[in-house]
Amino acid sequence: MSFDHDAYRAQSLATWGEMATGWEDRRDWMMNITGQVNSWLVTKTDPQPGQNFLDIAAGAGDLSIAVAECVGGGGHVISSDFSPKMIDVARRNGVASGLANIEYRVMDAEEMELGDNSVDGVVCRWGYMLMADPATALGETRRVLRDAGRLAFAVWTTPDRNPWASVPAMTLIQRGHLPPPEPGAPGIFAMGDPGRIKELVTGAGFAEPDLEVIEFEFRYADFDDFWDALVRIAGPLARVLNALPEDERLSTRTAIMKSVEPYRKADGTYVTPAATWGVSTR
Ligand SMILES: C[S@@+](CC[C@H](N)C(=O)[O-])C[C@H]1O[C@@H](n2cnc3c(N)ncnc32)[C@H](O)[C@@H]1O
Repeated sequence: MSFDHDAYRAQSLATWGEMATGWEDRRDWMMNITGQVNSWLVTKTDPQPGQNFLDIAAGAGDLSIAVAECVGGGGHVISSDFSPKMIDVARRNGVASGLANIEYRVMDAEEMELGDNSVDGVVCRWGYMLMADPATALGETRRVLRDAGRLAFAVWTTPDRNPWASVPAMTLIQRGHLPPPEPGAPGIFAMGDPGRIKELVTGAGFAEPDLEVIEFEFRYADFDDFWDALVRIAGPLARVLNALPEDERLSTRTAIMKSVEPYRKADGTYVTPAATWGVSTR
């Protein structure tokens, strides 16, 4: 089956718009667990006072805030996302942070309204693998980044190392609600293979990237909390779950609760491993 780029993009845009409230509500939870990935991306791009940076697929905008703190009042950060609703969330968070050096922009990473060589550094956390055409998005990144400017991004590793997403996804596949992933199609694990990352990065004109695995654990207070995260922030999985008829949604919920049972601790909390690639290049 051939991949319909425009249909995927439209569906993805709608999905992420629906996720915006969940990302806003779960922001502190997310940052407590994944803040270390933002720190890694900031360290690798090393933003300096006065520089111009771009955050691609910024979501709730916390990475933009971290970079803005480094570039200072004389610097500038473009916090971008293709979802206007996500940008509203990021803007609210940015205003609350009191930083005045962040510009919020609705922008598709595959078609950036930015000049050639116009930014000193680029960061992107958990964006490229979801894009209809990551090669085009990385080509656009190369175009807007000045020569020798640094790019650091995060993409998920493989399903076996990320049961927080792969276990519910497997349940959805088994129940016939989700087709098995097609090679080359966008999705949470679309850039899990380091060979594919290298091919996409060098194909866009960047140097051979450095890759590092960053491991952490998602922690949930109970199964309701796990479910809330799944249906309100987990983009492509949430879309499928939220579109199910109510009785099937409830049965699927029960099936997923069973499938994540191995991650339930004695105190009723759930702890699932997670592993992301940290990728840096210039
Ligand atoms: C998993 S969230 C990550 C958000 C944030 N970077 C973080 O790590 O907290 C993915 C984000 O990518 C954005 N996105 C997906 N495709 C995009 C595209 N083609 N251009 C720009 N943003 C995109 C979504 O709107 C969503 O906010």
